[in-house]
Amino acid sequence: MKTGISADHGGFELKEAIRQEFKNIDWVDFGVHSPEPADYPDKAAELCRAILSGQLDRGILICGTGIGISIAANRFRGIRAALCHDVFTAEMCRRHNNANVLALGGRVLDKEMAFRIVRLFFDTPFDGGRHEKRIEKIDTVTQG
Ligand code: RB5
Repeated sequence: MKTGISADHGGFELKEAIRQEFKNIDWVDFGVHSPEPADYPDKAAELCRAILSGQLDRGILICGTGIGISIAANRFRGIRAALCHDVFTAEMCRRHNNANVLALGGRVLDKEMAFRIVRLFFDTPFDGGRHEKRIEKIDTVTQG
């Protein structure tokens, strides 16, 4: 699975740790490549465009809290970005929401919890069924 990862300065350290921990993943790393200041909407936009154009299957976005970068990502139609802080939300974002982007807070999570969340994001399948039509509705009833 080709997976993008992108972070601002608040997420840089966690991004590097995730890349080290998950060496088996086919990563495309959008930076930042040092703790240089970056604007989280820019980091979200690069990765989301790559998913929507079919270059990537999924993505992980990291800022300080995960909030700004998930808000920005969810402006892209077809992106379902889930901000997860624990294993329950990590599992459910895949099972019920078919999340294609995981958002994390680099200043919120300890590394072990972040790794557990990332593992679930990769390993948990979408339940489908009744959740399909709800996901379709995200793109049909929320245009306003
Ligand atoms: C950057 O200082 C910080 O605002 C950003 O990483 C993020 O937490 C925004 O939601």
